[in-house]
Amino acid sequence: MTERHLWLRHEVRSTERRTTLVPDDARRLVDSGVRLTVEESPQRIFPVAAYEAVGARVVPAGSWTSAPPGTVVLGLKELPDEPAELTHHHVYFGHAYKEQPGAAHLLRRFAAGGGALLDLEYLVDDEGRRLAAFGYWAGYLGAALAVLQHRGRLTAPLRPTDKDTLDETLRPLPGDEDLTALVVGALGRSGRGARAAFATAGVDPTCWDLAETRDLDRAALLGHDVMVNAVLATSPIPPFLREQDLDDPARRLRTLCDVTCDVGSPLNVLPVYDRTTEWTEPARRLRKEPPLDLIAIDNLPSLLPRESSADFSRALLPLLLEYDVNPAWSRCMARFRQARAGLGPDGEGGHRD
Ligand SMILES: NC(=O)c1ccc[n+]([C@@H]2O[C@H](COP(=O)([O-])OP(=O)(O)OC[C@H]3O[C@@H](n4cnc5c(N)ncnc54)[C@H](O)[C@@H]3O)[C@@H](O)[C@H]2O)c1
Repeated sequence: MTERHLWLRHEVRSTERRTTLVPDDARRLVDSGVRLTVEESPQRIFPVAAYEAVGARVVPAGSWTSAPPGTVVLGLKELPDEPAELTHHHVYFGHAYKEQPGAAHLLRRFAAGGGALLDLEYLVDDEGRRLAAFGYWAGYLGAALAVLQHRGRLTAPLRPTDKDTLDETLRPLPGDEDLTALVVGALGRSGRGARAAFATAGVDPTCWDLAETRDLDRAALLGHDVMVNAVLATSPIPPFLREQDLDDPARRLRTLCDVTCDVGSPLNVLPVYDRTTEWTEPARRLRKEPPLDLIAIDNLPSLLPRESSADFSRALLPLLLEYDVNPAWSRCMARFRQARAGLGPDGEGGHRD
């Protein structure tokens, strides 16, 4: 059997401090006989020396382009624009199967080079459940930011931090008023994270999932001070909130955090805003009197890069150890082939960019 060669690349986005493989798990790969190469990366939360110490070879950032054939390149987010032809197998979040901007162009690069995109979003078990995801920390941060905003303690711009530091800011102080909170999608990964952050903040939230929203009680929803939406909608449903609900004189809701961030999509359950918020300005006022603030940040786990990377890597490791044999990879490859086939036989055409 040939030796598996895995190559952890540098992330091109300068604010991205997370990684899909942490040094402790890198050690497990090396110990199991995987040849591991790790690119230098100034912003990665773990120094490259920590990978070197567990047996990885260190190479310059971006040198995966000249990695030997057969190397599997592991990353997190987008590839750089060059080279035009992608020859390797790439494991990362490609965001290329839902007609996203640039998706067809990316698939054409793979088609031209004979490489493949093994998209982490489509790494699922035989019942279609995601095997590695960042959702827990998205929910944790969503609820944490909502509590801080509600208590007047959210400072901008947001900066990456660690859980202990964040938790210190969450603990209730003398004089803090009790707040009522609602988590929708409470049984999912993000929902569990949101509940954990509320617990740290001394808040016992109302928890709704599918059963509780089937016959939606908007008055009850509006009766909470804070709401965190963490649902994963798969088909269009009536919105949880409409414009007119924000003007309901009985509204107690003051802080709305949309972890789901499906803004602009037909699946959006909160069509009361038209653009996400950013690290520079995390909360936006939707109503003045009484106030209603929105937090809708679409890269929440990046704010806790160490913890979110460690959890993700722990989930991914068993799959990397079984790269050739675990059926999840065949499902992933089948999904890629299906998307590539949508481009047409010559790799041309397909969806508009
Ligand atoms: N903002 C970010 O940075 C960020 C990061 C990661 C994930 N997300 C998003 O967060 C959302 C949740 O992700 P997840 O990993 O927790 O998903 P998940 O599948 O683990 O959980 C989703 C939950 O929503 C529930 N749900 C679905 N439809 C519902 C409805 N109509 N009413 C009530 N509950 C409903 C499900 O039963 C499930 O418990 C996804 O949309 C995901 O894309 C956002």
